[in-house]
Amino acid sequence: MRTKLVTGYGCLEKIGEIVQSFGVSKAMLCTDSFLVTTPAAAAIQQKLKASGIECLVYTQLQPEPIDTDCDAGALFCREHGIELIVALGGGSVMDQSKAMAAIVTNGKSCRELDDTVIPRRMLPLICVPTTAGTGSEVTYVAVITNTEKKYKMTIMDADSLSPNVAVCDPALLTTLPKKLIASCGVDALTHAIEAYTAADGVKNPISDALALRAIEMIGQSLKQCWDSPTDQQAQSTMMLASTMAGAAFINADVGAVHAIAEVVGVTYHIPHGVANSLFLPYVMEFNRPGNDAYYARVAEQLGAARVGAGDEENGKRAIRFVEGLITQLEIPAFSDFAQVDPADFRDMAQRASKSAMSQDNRKEIHAEDYLSILQSAYQKKRLCQ
Ligand SMILES: NC(=O)c1ccc[n+]([C@@H]2O[C@H](COP(=O)([O-])OP(=O)(O)OC[C@H]3O[C@@H](n4cnc5c(N)ncnc54)[C@H](O)[C@@H]3O)[C@@H](O)[C@H]2O)c1
Ligand SMILES: [Fe+2]
Repeated sequence: MRTKLVTGYGCLEKIGEIVQSFGVSKAMLCTDSFLVTTPAAAAIQQKLKASGIECLVYTQLQPEPIDTDCDAGALFCREHGIELIVALGGGSVMDQSKAMAAIVTNGKSCRELDDTVIPRRMLPLICVPTTAGTGSEVTYVAVITNTEKKYKMTIMDADSLSPNVAVCDPALLTTLPKKLIASCGVDALTHAIEAYTAADGVKNPISDALALRAIEMIGQSLKQCWDSPTDQQAQSTMMLASTMAGAAFINADVGAVHAIAEVVGVTYHIPHGVANSLFLPYVMEFNRPGNDAYYARVAEQLGAARVGAGDEENGKRAIRFVEGLITQLEIPAFSDFAQVDPADFRDMAQRASKSAMSQDNRKEIHAEDYLSILQSAYQKKRLCQ
């Protein structure tokens, strides 16, 4: 992990000295139109000012960021001589900030950064996550929608796109609505499960260590965080676990859940965490036969395994646990979205099968498999009964 990590309740206090250590005089706070009204945004501006750093504020962005906004933001940075960006927000703000910071230093458009090595390191970037989900604060990935071709670009480069510092203050989760605690939390769980069950040659002991502990921590704290959104212990555990799950998947990869969720998300405008929740149990059940030991281990980490039961039974218990958790968190089902049309499934299955993430899935997966996963999720087919 190339990002310096600052963690702990109240650690946002250190933001002034952190930015000062980069020796810059002009920074930009990039955040969204809600978060800019919160005490955290005011505190960042005040701390930077107190450290003698000019701080402009930029809020031209939307959830699930788009390429043209990134280009516009980069132009703003260039016109104002911005030397460093502080990103305050969820994955959307952090990803747009990464893209803007890389566009500035590379002199390319957002679309030109897709699917290529990014030659120059982005502007210094400090990420301050306000959701416990994406792990974007420690990943070198920016997921940006290509508005021309209507797909999510995964812009990535380990050298050029790793944030310099992640300031992970669980206190910022206090204002997070329950439905975002739920969907972002399942995104983090998906990162950890997909990293741990990634294809051989992709996963490794380091990604396993991070993923397994993250699964355990999310199993212990996600429901608690949702039940009691101001529980500081649960908030702290979720914040750290989502960062660890991000670190796990950049050392391995995500798989078929993300491949299909990105296609479905961009087609129907379903937020990333919700889209993952729709398919996580179904992809686990697709992968499980022949791979029971991995899913039994997931069950153990989640506290769902039964002593004495074999791997097959415990693997199924992991899937039932995840299915139950998603239901308890009141995340909508696929068929609850009125815009979903089964006539689109064949095309979406094709597109998901061509995603690079499909290559790193534990089991080889084809368009036909995605089609049946889409249909099962739509019909709310019960698993592992
Ligand atoms: N770069 C990566 O490694 C990576 C990994 C996974 C997902 N993603 C991307 O991240 C994006 C999703 O990010 P997200 O799930 O964090 O949500 P988000 O950033 O899209 O935010 C969703 C909403 O939550 C609000 N919000 C955020 N924090 C809040 C808080 N503390 N209190 C109240 N409201 C708050 C925002 O204002 C916004 O309206 C997607 O575009 C996805 O593709 C990136
Ligand atoms: Fe994700």
